[in-house]
Amino acid sequence: MSFINKNINESYNFKFLIYFMFKQIFTVAILITVLMISCNNSTNQTDQNTINSKQEKWWKEAVVYQIYPRSFMDSNGDGVGDLKGLTGKLDYVKSLGIDIIWLNPIYSSPNADNGYDISNYDDIMKEFGTMDDFNVMLAEMHKRGLKLVMDLVVNHCSDEHEWFKQARSSRTNPYRNYFHWWPAEKGKPPFRPGSFEVDGSGWRFDSLTNSYYLHYFSYKQPDLNWENPKVRSEIFAMMNRWFKKGVDGFRMDVIPFIAKDTTFPVITQKELDKKYEGRWDVYMASGPGLHQYLREMNEQVLSKYDVMTLAEGAGTTKSTAMLLVDPERKELDMSYHFDGVSLGYVPGYFKKMNPNWNLVDFKKIYSDWDSVFAEKGWGTIYLGNHDQPRMVSRWGNDAPEYREASSKMLTTFLLSMRGTPFYYYGDELGMTNIKFDKIEDYRDIETLAEYAKIKNAGGDLKQFIEDQKTGGARDNGRTPMQWNAEANAGFTTGIPWLKVNENKSEINVEAEEKNDNSPLKYFKKMTGLRKDHKDVLVYGKYTLLDKDNPDVYAYTREANGKKVLVLLSFRKNGGSFQLDKMQLGEEWINNMQPLQVKENIISLKPYQACIVELKN
Ligand code: GLC
Ligand code: CA
Repeated sequence: MSFINKNINESYNFKFLIYFMFKQIFTVAILITVLMISCNNSTNQTDQNTINSKQEKWWKEAVVYQIYPRSFMDSNGDGVGDLKGLTGKLDYVKSLGIDIIWLNPIYSSPNADNGYDISNYDDIMKEFGTMDDFNVMLAEMHKRGLKLVMDLVVNHCSDEHEWFKQARSSRTNPYRNYFHWWPAEKGKPPFRPGSFEVDGSGWRFDSLTNSYYLHYFSYKQPDLNWENPKVRSEIFAMMNRWFKKGVDGFRMDVIPFIAKDTTFPVITQKELDKKYEGRWDVYMASGPGLHQYLREMNEQVLSKYDVMTLAEGAGTTKSTAMLLVDPERKELDMSYHFDGVSLGYVPGYFKKMNPNWNLVDFKKIYSDWDSVFAEKGWGTIYLGNHDQPRMVSRWGNDAPEYREASSKMLTTFLLSMRGTPFYYYGDELGMTNIKFDKIEDYRDIETLAEYAKIKNAGGDLKQFIEDQKTGGARDNGRTPMQWNAEANAGFTTGIPWLKVNENKSEINVEAEEKNDNSPLKYFKKMTGLRKDHKDVLVYGKYTLLDKDNPDVYAYTREANGKKVLVLLSFRKNGGSFQLDKMQLGEEWINNMQPLQVKENIISLKPYQACIVELKN
């Protein structure tokens, strides 16, 4: 080959290369344009949902299983659940298909409020075990791919915490300013409510220094003063220590209460009604400084780890919740509201449930809250926890003929809504309220205080005991886990700290593992389904249908061209649903026989639940 030829050849090759490159660039440009247009379209089609799914996070896709450690498993026969007992049950927990365990407080505590009164944030409650037991438990959780979220109780500590012991000793003690004091020479402090106190006051007189101190809960739970930077740095350092140990997040107890107006102005009922919907909890929460404190916490602690944070959104509303969880604000990840679980109480009574609570209102609450987080932030969903009665007794029907169906129906609801589900131990079995007949059976500080209040006022104590059976008594949801039909349901060999429900002979893990139609097996199916279809069931758009239907909760979830219809009968009369132009496809899950459609109407059996694909 000659030199010239070579040049010609080379120049030919060069031109071809340029031509080829241009062609490639052109094709890629067209492809990008097409892709962008189609992406845009699908953003419009699936609404804001793709925005949230673009920010995929492990804690959005997880199912959280809440364990009340006192009641889960006792390893040493003292009648109190403990960490060793829990560790021994981790294979069971893993088998549920859940991802995260939220554990109620396990720190040192004199247990005025079962661990929500902490006397040492760096140690384990004696009854629950030792730090070594904790380390083993955490390692065993992580070995199984389970994450651990701890409870962070920092609005208050215990009056037996060293900080408070110091603080109360004199007005000049360096710890004095860790708490809120009102010198008695100024007269009585302006009223603030104190839950769990028979006199209803959130101030307690301490003769040692002739002052009152503030406690939003019992007098054994003095409120910490977050305005003091020393308090904040002590708490942030403590959180860092736990994260360094490897915990995966915190559920933050009544966190909006940490900030309050510490001039403690007198507030009139009129002002309360006008500015705070008449709600003390709203007034007492989200005071000046809240978001500054949380941003500091984020900067100095949370941003350093890949962890999950959940605010117990006490006193927050639909308009203030976003301030806590908007990712751009760099505060917390999620929050949970009280609107759902506050529905249906009879005004003027303590947590007395109206059995004819309104499903239309229920649907509106959950739909409105879904829309709060449609564009940013992330919601949560729950129907029971350690502060609530059992979900099947409150929102389903615990009569023997309906208990299983209605508990599966509620499971379907929790695991098919957008937002991270928080599922309470024992609900997977359909555990029910214990319905104590006498006050002596109760252990909860809240119920005991309410009872004493009514007694002092000469009120109807019998009625109170009746109301607590179906209503809000927290011990209804705290009875020991039902592992088998043996004595004390296999929870303890000793005397349990709270009575075991007698229905343990039918409702227990062992029996339900053997029965393919049990609520337990159904829960496992639902956790699997949520994982398999995370595009639709976790991130997909939610649309409420037939909002005025008094018996049926119906909605669609959709993403990426896939759409399902969720139908839930909340009533013992079943209910019906008009299909209109919808065409049913494959059923993903059904707690009863397949759906029957007649003349475009679906009739649901009592408490029937179904998720079915839609073809159009
Ligand atoms: C939260 C807890 C509750 C506790 C209270 C005081 O509401 O969930 O159990 O009694 O705070 O810490
Ligand atoms: Ca024990």
